[in-house]
Amino acid sequence: MGISVHEDKGLFHLQSTGMSYMIQLFNDYPVHVYWGKKLRDDGNLEGMLNVGGNTGIDRLPQEYPQYGSGDFRNPAYQARLEDGTRVTELRYSSYRVLKGKPVLEGLPSVYVESEDEAETLELILKDDYAKLTVILRYTIYEGMDVIARSVQFLNEGESKLQLLRALSASVDLSAGELDMIYLAGAWAREGNLTRRRLVQGGTNIGSRRGMSGHQFNPFTALAKPGTDENQGEVFGFSLVYSGSFEAEAEVDSFGSTRFSIGLNSLDFTWQLEPGESFQTPEVIMVYSAQGIGEMSRVYHRLYRTRLCRGQYRDKERPILVNNWEATYFDFNTDKLESIAAEAAKLGIELFVLDDGWFGKRDADNSSLGDWVEDLRKLPGGLNDLAKRVNGLGLQFGLWVEPEMISPDSDLYRQHPDWCLHVPGRRRSEIRWQLVLDYSRADVREYIYESLSRIFSTIPIAYIKWDMNRCLTEVGSAQMAPERQGEIGHRYVLGLYELLEKLTVRFPKILFESCCSGGGRFDPGMLYYMPQTWTSDDTDAVERLKIQYGTSLVYPVSAMGAHVSAVPNHQVGRITPLSFRGDVAMSGNFGYELDLTKFTPEEKELVKEQVANYKGIRSLVQQGNLYRLQSPFEGNETAWMFVSDDQSEALVYYFRVMAIPNPPPRSLKLNGLNPSLNYRLEASEEVFGGDRLMQVGISLPNEQRDYVSGCYKLVAVKE
Ligand code: DGJ
Repeated sequence: MGISVHEDKGLFHLQSTGMSYMIQLFNDYPVHVYWGKKLRDDGNLEGMLNVGGNTGIDRLPQEYPQYGSGDFRNPAYQARLEDGTRVTELRYSSYRVLKGKPVLEGLPSVYVESEDEAETLELILKDDYAKLTVILRYTIYEGMDVIARSVQFLNEGESKLQLLRALSASVDLSAGELDMIYLAGAWAREGNLTRRRLVQGGTNIGSRRGMSGHQFNPFTALAKPGTDENQGEVFGFSLVYSGSFEAEAEVDSFGSTRFSIGLNSLDFTWQLEPGESFQTPEVIMVYSAQGIGEMSRVYHRLYRTRLCRGQYRDKERPILVNNWEATYFDFNTDKLESIAAEAAKLGIELFVLDDGWFGKRDADNSSLGDWVEDLRKLPGGLNDLAKRVNGLGLQFGLWVEPEMISPDSDLYRQHPDWCLHVPGRRRSEIRWQLVLDYSRADVREYIYESLSRIFSTIPIAYIKWDMNRCLTEVGSAQMAPERQGEIGHRYVLGLYELLEKLTVRFPKILFESCCSGGGRFDPGMLYYMPQTWTSDDTDAVERLKIQYGTSLVYPVSAMGAHVSAVPNHQVGRITPLSFRGDVAMSGNFGYELDLTKFTPEEKELVKEQVANYKGIRSLVQQGNLYRLQSPFEGNETAWMFVSDDQSEALVYYFRVMAIPNPPPRSLKLNGLNPSLNYRLEASEEVFGGDRLMQVGISLPNEQRDYVSGCYKLVAVKE
């Protein structure tokens, strides 16, 4: 396993437990020859490259294609030389194999805990005329069918080079039909699972917003037609990046598909002075021969254990109550304390104070940047509130939106040049706010100091890091004209640098990212903050789709999911508290409503839900997810969580609308050990794992809308 190099054949074979990936040199081009089920490393290596006699560069399946010398498909990079020309041709120069995985300086990335977990191949390519060196990095994990790819550019000449395009990876998959699967959406409608057959031409998704965005997640899977949750081949690509990105699948005239993903090239340039280098973000490629479900479980395991960091990585997450939908901007210390007091009685562990606690923020039109508590609302300050909350036995958490500045703020009045802007042009406001220029060290330092002061003087256990608008007029007052095309990416790098500093300095704080809900639910953010507010839509029916779609890539531990009030604030729907609870308990659980307004019966049910979640949360957050029925395909949704040793499982079933005179219904389970017997906790019945998976459990037939059920299964000891 690992990486074998057959120098005589110019062949590089990357192998994990179930997967092979092969690259072969052809006329000094690194050519993609295979990605799929594991192949033996002997007897299988002759004639891997099959171009059917057509050796023209436009037909070669390439590893990192250029534009300008005969390949007319989507290129992976482009560089401008000082003489203005933009033709370069990278040829193989040498290779290195390293144990483990090198750290990507300044960028989030998956990691190893010991060098034996992975091996890294570096292919070194050169354009001798431009003196451009490009290193293609491939890390293959031993125990997971995962390859992490990224690219480094080095200017080894004496003149300037300018990168015009620098994608993270390109893969040419051999001829054959493929479906493209991706997560589309909008604010409050994230994670829509979308699948379409590729035909000749390009199909692309991306973001030009400076953040990964609600519209498309930086993720794509290519699946053979017929591949479903449990069987068939699928190739996943997940970009570890939080800014503008692009991903394209391009089918050529011969039915081959080139898939490319990386930084969005629109409005991107990067100046490379002699001796300078540029590192792209990395893309995580997962192969599964057992359907989409297995691809997701690999992403979940990798992201939960080798992307997320910090003391909360492997810890159960606290059950929280957040005051946003309870009070919006209208609160004071006593009101908040009353919600926290109720929460304490019900067993909730963390109280989170959301937007509106600073400056003079009575609405969303002022004060961002003035990170000082509003003594009109909190006469004793944050400290007094935090202590009162702690006194009730709850931890205290706080909302911040530190990348923003309100024109109506003291900070803006003092530093009008601290926002992203283009001189002489309008500064477009969205939600009455502008974006701080995080490409500037002085701006980052100011925010670091302001937040550190709060984080070190108030007993804060949790931070919700929000971001509520996309980037416009992306320019910086400090940057030279020829570097203005770097600001979008430098903004993201600046954000990463600040997050690294804060999370290292405050290791005990649990950070949750948010971007008007799931507008930046991406692996880049998860590297710094191990959970994300999945969506501003808290309606339980809508959440079925949002959480199902998001789970395609992201682990359940990362998905913030709250029970909110009815009628729901986003769609006006009235669903039972039990249904809302079951949907939210399928994620990283909490409440977002005024608990003091609940009836005694409702409080009793909340108490039960909280106690129940404490018993199941390790299984939900760290177990293996099996999606059983898709909300995108009908009226019913089901999923289940199975422990690593298959001794425990938990099934959630949801039916949105009642069905008149239904036939007997059963739900087939998955992921169990067919040779074990399991006890259904509610009924004490015992069934074989094989029967539960082939025949299933019978489903309730209640005559009402919004039915949900939860079934706990425990393996019976012999
Ligand atoms: C958007 C977030 O997604 C909400 O949860 C809330 O924190 C608001 N911002 C506050 O302005």
